[in-house]
This record gives sequence, structure tokens and C-alpha cells, in this order.
Amino acid sequence: MPRSSLRRPGQELDLSKHLRDSEQLPSNLSSNTLFSNEHPLELEVGSGKGLFIDNASLANPAHNYVGVEIIAKYAKHSAAKLARRQATNAIMVSGNAEPLLAESIAQGSLEAVHVYFPDPWWKKRHRKRRVLNEQSIINLTRCLRTGGRFHFWTDVLDYFEDTVELIAEISPILGVPIPEDEITATHDLDYRTHFERRSRQNFIPVYRIRYEKRSALA
Ligand SMILES: C[S@@+](CC[C@H](N)C(=O)[O-])C[C@H]1O[C@@H](n2cnc3c(N)ncnc32)[C@H](O)[C@@H]1O
Repeated sequence: MPRSSLRRPGQELDLSKHLRDSEQLPSNLSSNTLFSNEHPLELEVGSGKGLFIDNASLANPAHNYVGVEIIAKYAKHSAAKLARRQATNAIMVSGNAEPLLAESIAQGSLEAVHVYFPDPWWKKRHRKRRVLNEQSIINLTRCLRTGGRFHFWTDVLDYFEDTVELIAEISPILGVPIPEDEITATHDLDYRTHFERRSRQNFIPVYRIRYEKRSALA
């Protein structure tokens, strides 16, 4: 299904506080280095048009949010949402989330990782391109604090089942998948993400789970 077109942010909108290039980030990403405070830090991989990061950062002012989006125009579009309302607890990073999870985030430092509707890469030979793969699961597990959450929603049953199996096999410290409920939408942007809205409006089932990282001894 094609994506709808993007509204360009106005030229006059200052994105300097809300859009960072992944090449120009500090080598250690934390609330301290990005927001100059110690609030819990949540990371979204593949923010798309930024509905989640905009709504979540507005609803949870005591947490910080970083959205990472590999397609520059989407990162900019999402950053523009944050800039328009002068959000102080959320930024967008334009670039690839995988090296950030692998190298730039300290062990046990994230409150949550969010992955919503990652690209399915349907063909078997392309599956290794999936954003949730063996290495990224190991990396995100390392980055989460004990008790930290990993939210994963998709409408691709095969991706959902493969990921649940993979986590059980390589990352049991994440515990068991906890189903998350569908929330009744009260208006057109009352969805977790744009892709959730698209799936629900087309009556496509959505699989929603989260994990909560256990302590090593649990
Ligand atoms: C199918 S879209 C879903 C967007 C959004 N999460 C939603 O649910 O509406 C997947 C998004 O992940 C982004 N993406 C894919 N690989 C990525 C990566 N390695 N790092 C950051 N973003 C990535 C894509 O550019 C795309 O915008």
C-alpha cells in the first residue's frame, strides 16, 4: 500500500533543537548528553511520520524521547511536529538506528525501546534486512535497564511470530511477551502510529506486545 504524501515543514520553522543527524551525535547517547537532565530515556526505531513520538512525549513530560528514522524527509517531518509545539523532551535523529543501538547507548540505560510496524521485507532472501534481527535484539536487550520495556507492534504475522521465537531463543532475559490492548480511537490521530491507523482502518489485524526486561537472577 503506498504511503500518503508528506506536508513539507515551512521554511521558517527552526528545526535545530529537534532534528539531529546521526553522524553528529555525541558518542554516548543519554538523557544527560541529549536533554541535560536525568529523566528516563525512551527510544523509537523507525518513527515514520512521528505520530508516536509526538503523542508520547506530550503525554509523558517526565520522560525523554528519541526517535530514529532512516529516511531523511520523514525524520524532518517528525521533527517539525515536535518543533511546532516546542517540545523540550523529544528529538528526532535522522539516520540508522542499528549502529546507535550497537555502539552509542550505555548498557542498562534505556527505559523503553519502541518498534512499531517495521518494514516487513517479505522475500526470504531479504529477511536479514529486517530491523528486528538477532543482532538488534541483542543490542536493544543490552541497552534496556532491568524492568525496561520493549514494545513491538506489527500487522505482519510472520514477522511477529519469528520475532517472538527469536527472543525466546536468544534473549530470554526479556521475559515473556505481554499482550497490549487495542485502544478505541476517539479521533483520526488517536492511534499509536500512522501504520496502526492504516491497518485498523483497513480491518487488518494488528499484533501488539511488550516485554519487560528481567533482572539476571529472576
Ligand atoms: C513501515 S514504516 C512504520 C513507521 C511508523 N513506525 C508507523 O508505525 O507508522 C517503518 C519505518 O522504519 C524506518 N526504518 C527502517 N529501517 C530503519 C533503521 N535501520 N533505522 C531507522 N529507521 C528505520 C523506515 O524508513 C520507515 O519509516
